[in-house]
Amino acid sequence: MKQQFSFEFDYLDDISHLDIKDADLLNKAIQATKTAFAPYSNFKVGAAALLSNGQIVIGSNQESASYPVGICAERTLLNSIGSQFPNETILSMAISYDSPKTACNEPISPCGMCRQSLLDYENRYQAAIKIILAGKTGPVMVVKSVKDLLPFGFDGSVLK
Ligand code: THU
Repeated sequence: MKQQFSFEFDYLDDISHLDIKDADLLNKAIQATKTAFAPYSNFKVGAAALLSNGQIVIGSNQESASYPVGICAERTLLNSIGSQFPNETILSMAISYDSPKTACNEPISPCGMCRQSLLDYENRYQAAIKIILAGKTGPVMVVKSVKDLLPFGFDGSVLK
């Protein structure tokens, strides 16, 4: 039997089509690119998360002279939230970037490793995380759950 996976997401022309809370979160992600440490790739990624207590926390990629040791913005942020706010769920996360090599006017999407970490967080708290993706300008994509970004993701229940 053939089966199919598909999901719906919003594709908006620009930030002005977001509601005020999501637009604020995206602006904080754009600002967070300034805290990236990316001397090797020059690709600065910023992420901002809205927590269930209303607080906004930011993260950015932090590279290493030993390249694979570096960490993406999304996992910097998740690890920070997990350590500082272990009792809060994440309602939404915005991700943006800045790079001298491109116009930064298209969304980027989290890497596979970050998708797993994001999914881990959704499963841990049983709460969907809305993901908002955009460059510095241009279209914005809004995905309602990390499950959509990682079909057949490993949820760890078999480890119990
Ligand atoms: N990077 C992120 O921080 N998040 C992503 O979703 C994709 C890639 C970082 C890793 C590395 O520091 C730089 O961007 C170039 O890959």
